[in-house]
Amino acid sequence: MFDVNKIKNDFPMFKNNKEMQGKNFVYFDNASTTFKPQSVIEKINKYYTTECVNSHRGDYDIAHKVDEQVLKTRRNVAKFINADVNEVVFTSGATMSLNLIARGYGEKFLNKGDEILINEAEHASDVLPWFEIARKKGLIVKFIPLDEKGRITLDSIKACVTDKTKIISIAQVSNVLGYKNDVKEICSFAHSKSIIVCVDGAQSVPHMKVDVKDIDCDFLIFSAHKMCGPTGIGILYGKYNLLNEMDSFLVGGGDNITFDLGCSVSYLNPPEKFEAGTLNLAGIYGLDAAIDYINTIGIENIEKYETELRKYAISKLEKNQNLIIYNKDADSGIITLNYKGVFAQDEATYLNSKGICVRSGQHCAKLLTNFLNANATVRISMYFYNTKDDVDILVEALEKGGDFLDAYFN
Ligand code: ALA
Repeated sequence: MFDVNKIKNDFPMFKNNKEMQGKNFVYFDNASTTFKPQSVIEKINKYYTTECVNSHRGDYDIAHKVDEQVLKTRRNVAKFINADVNEVVFTSGATMSLNLIARGYGEKFLNKGDEILINEAEHASDVLPWFEIARKKGLIVKFIPLDEKGRITLDSIKACVTDKTKIISIAQVSNVLGYKNDVKEICSFAHSKSIIVCVDGAQSVPHMKVDVKDIDCDFLIFSAHKMCGPTGIGILYGKYNLLNEMDSFLVGGGDNITFDLGCSVSYLNPPEKFEAGTLNLAGIYGLDAAIDYINTIGIENIEKYETELRKYAISKLEKNQNLIIYNKDADSGIITLNYKGVFAQDEATYLNSKGICVRSGQHCAKLLTNFLNANATVRISMYFYNTKDDVDILVEALEKGGDFLDAYFN
């Protein structure tokens, strides 16, 4: 296991940030984005300071180096999720990847009356792209009911599936309730009915081993910035035959072999056919370093560590009778709560005054408010650089968390 106290030194944010200086700086908003280690920052700098040219266009040594790095990152991502290298598409992030699936696959292959299954706990990025193509093509979006705790079960999926169901799109770990969905079991059932499964890995890939061949998902999407990497770069994994059949909704330079005055176009094979325009090269350099960094720590170690830290946090938080914890028995580093009688944003503002960063509100999962019977919640989301001391600071702050006017007068 890694030494968490040493690990914090790898992240300049803990030393350099000005807002939290003089306070015990605790960062618990990792589901939103994570801090970046020095090695990632240096790799991005390497691109801008020593190799700052375009990829796949230049016939000179520096351009070849950049081409090699693009391939190296693609291989690194492929190995990380156990995909084949040509099944890894660079996008701007998870949102873009989901839009690409909805537009590139859904719009092409789904027909009026076909059904897409999602659920109320999904992030907007796994809801709105489906709403949009449903509106355009006369498709039906159905919601898999959540059980009493907010989880998805295979039985509830089975109860929703009809012979019109064509796609199930589901988060492997939900971004508010933090439950891990058994996507392997879901894929096995779905495939027996010829249903495509799209897995949102934004909150799983950074925290646990995800093996696309083992899960047998058709698509997996995630963002680099939630796993120590830069913003503006993410991944769409798709089984090669699906990527091959799909269209890209973004076309332009770099994705084609030829086009002519008769308006006919011949596109490159996947993954390049989905990568029109200049790639986010600095992002691709940074993502490579982020995966290397995570591999040094070990993704299994990260999962184990976060599971323990979560247990520790719950054991402390549940002693506070003023807290409503919405997902006590979830199994990820996401804990969602409210302090009785205090509006979530006020609670987050109070915690901020103590040096603690959390997210409050609806966390982009706006359909979940009815289920939770709460218009807004406070979300604590951990990463491997969080410590038991961080948890203790939070627990102590929440002991006085009803007294949120302290935020202004202390
Ligand atoms: N998807 C991010 C979150 O859950 C922004 O906070």
